[in-house]
Amino acid sequence: MYSELQGKVALITGASRGFGAAIAHRLAKEGCTIILNYRRSRAEAESIMESIHAAGGKALAIKADVGDEDKIDAMFEFIEDEFGRCDILVPNASFGVPGQTITASSKHWDATFNSTAKSVMLLSQRAVPLMKDWGRIVTVTSYGGQRVLEQYGIVGPAKAAVESLTRSLAVELAPHNILVNGIMPGVCDTKSFNAIPNAETVLVTAKEKTPVGRLVTPEDAADVVAFLCSDQSRMICGQFITIDGGAFIVN
Ligand SMILES: NC(=O)c1ccc[n+]([C@@H]2O[C@H](COP(=O)([O-])OP(=O)(O)OC[C@H]3O[C@@H](n4cnc5c(N)ncnc54)[C@H](OP(=O)(O)O)[C@@H]3O)[C@@H](O)[C@H]2O)c1
Repeated sequence: MYSELQGKVALITGASRGFGAAIAHRLAKEGCTIILNYRRSRAEAESIMESIHAAGGKALAIKADVGDEDKIDAMFEFIEDEFGRCDILVPNASFGVPGQTITASSKHWDATFNSTAKSVMLLSQRAVPLMKDWGRIVTVTSYGGQRVLEQYGIVGPAKAAVESLTRSLAVELAPHNILVNGIMPGVCDTKSFNAIPNAETVLVTAKEKTPVGRLVTPEDAADVVAFLCSDQSRMICGQFITIDGGAFIVN
């Protein structure tokens, strides 16, 4: 347990399931008040909210497409009115159109970059003024930011932008006692992952090729996010922690 997280207000985007939901549960356990953002899945988000309440935590769900600047602004108006602060930001939500770079359309590029990368900048710009003398931002990238993956022709570049943004924000915000870092989870069996055309095969192969012998779970990543929000990580700035049971270093 990280007692310094008690009472902090944490916004987690894309928290209706997968990594975001696990991060919400984990930070709620630390005593944070959780703002669960989602885009469409209201019932799922409300069920995560209710399970946090049932465990004695504080949470509310708020709908906003993070690919739309006006929706981000409306969400922050609400956060400012309701809480007056936002100590922790986890810009986890990402929407990407699969395909190759050479055939990608501007429309798909914009949709992918707006919700995956530009959102990290806009959410940070709105959250930072609400971080009062202390703040944490934890971004989420993937292998696609560093490697050429099938169907990741524009998602990969968007994730690379997230990595670069994380480093820029880390340097700009460190003097204000706001630490910015990221996580890079390996393959995880989530709804988004299953949207890629060859998901089933990739899941089996990824498990076989992972030294610890299993796939990453959202809870594995959530524990690292809690650590990066805690004071235990106070000298980690602008870094990405890979959470993949050793898969990246051997494949
Ligand atoms: N799964 C993996 O193997 C893997 C590996 C590395 C990194 N990641 C990263 O982990 C993050 C979460 O993915 P996941 O695998 O946990 O996916 P997931 O289980 O499918 O969850 C995606 C979440 O994002 C929300 N979302 C999507 N687009 C949004 C938008 N424009 N605005 C607001 N919310 C939006 C979804 O809500 P709605 O349903 O309401 O749209 C949902 O809550 C992503 O950044 C992804 O790139 C995943």
